[in-house]
Amino acid sequence: MRRPMVAGNWKMHGTRAGVAELLEGLRKLPRSGEVEVAVFPSSLHIGQVIDGLQGSGITVGAQNSAIQPEQGALTGEVAPSQLAELGCKLVLVGHSERRQVMGESENVLQQKFAAAQACGLKPVLCIGETLEEREAGKTLEVVERQLSSIIDTFGVAVFANAVIAYEPVWAIGTGLTASPQQAQDVHAAIRAQLAKEDAEVAARVQLLYGGSVKASNAAELFGMPDIDGGLVGGASLNADEFGAICRAAGN
Ligand code: 13P
Repeated sequence: MRRPMVAGNWKMHGTRAGVAELLEGLRKLPRSGEVEVAVFPSSLHIGQVIDGLQGSGITVGAQNSAIQPEQGALTGEVAPSQLAELGCKLVLVGHSERRQVMGESENVLQQKFAAAQACGLKPVLCIGETLEEREAGKTLEVVERQLSSIIDTFGVAVFANAVIAYEPVWAIGTGLTASPQQAQDVHAAIRAQLAKEDAEVAARVQLLYGGSVKASNAAELFGMPDIDGGLVGGASLNADEFGAICRAAGN
């Protein structure tokens, strides 16, 4: 019922030449309609990537977008309407690097989420606990609070047109991965929280796992019942490795 999805978050990586090389590799990957594949380049390269992936079946998203839907006087930001016009379909909201390093508050994330949807972009809401929170036994509490911030503001129905990525902060870029069971436990709790409000929305929403996903651990993670794919950082910068992760999601 849920289509698997693998998304590559390129973060602040890439040059024009490096991106061109990566696109060449991505275009050569065997196509499978079964898995939804998306990439999130830096804002600077979104146009290049959309042009380079025409006809490939790979969707392009943005890593960030402004708190207001329409263009205007907001120095340094990119409006979701501008992204949509360019051909973007998705946008990350609430990645831990933006929550923690850029200090984005729940209020800012709520505005970004709503502005993106208002422009027809599908938000990928990222949630997850720090190592300190996990060790204090607060994982489910933290994830529930981050999800409630959107549900309580806009209602659960907004998740009919959104994706959720569970990314434990301690597993991002560290080489540490949540075990398939650890990830499954949190994914099941996320789905249960949604189901309390609307069983149909809960059953349909794609829940991605992120945090040191690689070709070597993807199949085990994606084999769990509530893990519908992955949000991949470092390993998405290599087309062959990313392709292997996409294949794991199709099996
Ligand atoms: P890594 O796969 O490099 O750990 O990054 C995960 C991530 O933050 C994806 O958004």
